[in-house]
Amino acid sequence: MTLVDIHCHMLPGIDDGSKDWPTSIKLAKEAVADGVTHAVVTPHTLNGKYLNHKKDIISLTRQYQEMLDEANIPLTVFAGQEVRLSGDLIDAIEKDDILFCDEEGTYMLLEFPSEDVPTYAKDTIFKLQGYGITPVIVHPERNNRILKEPEVLQTLIEQGCLVQITASSYTGLFGSKVEDLSRKLIEAGQGCTFASDAHDLPRRQYQLSEAYKKMAKEFSPELAESWKENSRKIINGENVQMDWRPLKKKKKFWLF
Ligand SMILES: [Fe+2]
Repeated sequence: MTLVDIHCHMLPGIDDGSKDWPTSIKLAKEAVADGVTHAVVTPHTLNGKYLNHKKDIISLTRQYQEMLDEANIPLTVFAGQEVRLSGDLIDAIEKDDILFCDEEGTYMLLEFPSEDVPTYAKDTIFKLQGYGITPVIVHPERNNRILKEPEVLQTLIEQGCLVQITASSYTGLFGSKVEDLSRKLIEAGQGCTFASDAHDLPRRQYQLSEAYKKMAKEFSPELAESWKENSRKIINGENVQMDWRPLKKKKKFWLF
């Protein structure tokens, strides 16, 4: 059975993910043990700390695939990027220095700074759409602004963005607030797939299958299957839509 991970940091030595090749091999083994068959490897870029160029990522990904094949690890990897919303993003697109989840350049993983959603997000997303790109907003449930004002995400979904929730957010690794928001977003259809966002960190194991199991139990096995299918569609550049609705508002109690 196919299980696709569209977001992980398994390439060695180029961001805060794997530190070296043995770690990359270890992470691949963990992914396979969790049931993953295909992974888009997505180093950070344009985030002020890491600038990883398309050609370097492609070459490292090829090397990685060769190593996986030699070690008989049944994982197919594709070159991608986790792209930070940045003033340099459109220039990088123009220079053909951006990688996508799919070959055709339809789906791009878009990350916000962890504290905020910049005011120019809307405008940049509009520009990206002009290039035929659909941004997939990564882990909004971990963004401090969205945690406080979840309706900020809704305006970006209205604009046409998709949303990826991190598996371990929903399984509770980052605490109950992040877990609760993950659940609320799922409930409102404001997400379309899980990804591992795997790094080589203690306590940060592959939890993709655990998240899908939890979703099947808390919501339905059909929803879990459709989210798995969405990851497959994303890497194939096929149409993915989110059947979403506004988040339930907290009840207000007025004093007279
Ligand atoms: Fe990431």
